[in-house]
Amino acid sequence: MKKQNLSFLQDFLSQKPDSKKFILLDENTYTHCLPILIENVEELYGAEVLEIESGERSKSLSIVENLCQAMIESSADKESILISLGGGVITDIGGFIASIFKRGIQHIAIPTTLLAMVDASIGGKTGVNVGEVKNQIGTFNTNTITCIHYEFLDSLKKRQVLNGAAEMIKVSLLDEKLWEKLDAKDSPWNNKKEGFDYKFIESCIKFKKRIVKEDMYEKGRRKILNFGHSLAHAFESVALLKNIDLLHGEAVASGMFYAIMLSETKLSFPNDKAQEIYKLLKKNYKIIDIQEDIDLVINYLNADKKNINNEFRFILLEDIGKPYINFHIIKDDLINLKTP
Ligand SMILES: NC(=O)c1ccc[n+]([C@@H]2O[C@H](COP(=O)([O-])OP(=O)(O)OC[C@H]3O[C@@H](n4cnc5c(N)ncnc54)[C@H](O)[C@@H]3O)[C@@H](O)[C@H]2O)c1
Ligand SMILES: [Zn+2]
Repeated sequence: MKKQNLSFLQDFLSQKPDSKKFILLDENTYTHCLPILIENVEELYGAEVLEIESGERSKSLSIVENLCQAMIESSADKESILISLGGGVITDIGGFIASIFKRGIQHIAIPTTLLAMVDASIGGKTGVNVGEVKNQIGTFNTNTITCIHYEFLDSLKKRQVLNGAAEMIKVSLLDEKLWEKLDAKDSPWNNKKEGFDYKFIESCIKFKKRIVKEDMYEKGRRKILNFGHSLAHAFESVALLKNIDLLHGEAVASGMFYAIMLSETKLSFPNDKAQEIYKLLKKNYKIIDIQEDIDLVINYLNADKKNINNEFRFILLEDIGKPYINFHIIKDDLINLKTP
């Protein structure tokens, strides 16, 4: 995957005059991002726009089918190019369609949320949910190009910024140097007065790219990126089931909170650092009370492909920058967790 800017995209597309271009977006990126995109990439003037409703519920096979239908009706062929302009929902769906439509067409990801820039648009995972269970169907599909254009971040609401920040906190816990940088500044993702700390964002992007390069298909090391995610996915599933508004990053923040708690008891993660992390997470996020829906959480953990029979594999930390992959956690460990 190449990370590029919009002028590179303009040059790339100008060499593909015969390819039909489709731009997948939602109502928010239509309003806030499409004008910026067209202004910078005139090759996209007149491209076919495919708009879907924003939100996690759009990540479904029926939406994928509708979109494929629309593309076929607009005479899409093997040479067509699909451009995903949006957050992780859009880049996940777009990447998925590009990998299956006519057995594969070119995909250009243009992440417009912080979360999609530092996480969702990197690493080739695509997919949709089945019912309320997340990412059950998907593919690995490397984007032809991924464009990072920071100006898109300016229209994000604070809640969406914090959503992406959770993934930045995650990678900082996986890398001592990043943690030190994160520590030195109060909130490098959200310092509105001075703007975003693009250098820090860039470092987070580089960290994920490095891990993915080592282990694209998640046979080993890439698993560390799931830190906080086993519980996060369960929290997200519970939220979808109960119609509670919960963002991925918010779920990850709570997932990391409990993963650190487990790391303290199981792996002697240093208490002083744990306290710092709890403080950081509590300051920025509402920590979900795990005991409130513990049975549902356990059901969803059991549905996770990584787990068998009430025995769950978690990523824990021995220390900052020292992840432990596949630590076995049992139901009782979770039932015994204190709520914050
Ligand atoms: N493939 C992966 O490796 C991977 C990794 C992490 C997350 N994900 C997936 O990503 C999804 C979450 O991504 P997300 O948080 O970006 O969600 P999202 O795509 O739903 O975007 C969040 C909201 O922000 C709006 N938005 C997007 N860009 C905007 C902009 N520039 N200005 C104003 N509003 C804007 C969107 O319309 C939406 O309402 C989840 O489905 C998750 O599973 C995938
Ligand atoms: Zn995530």
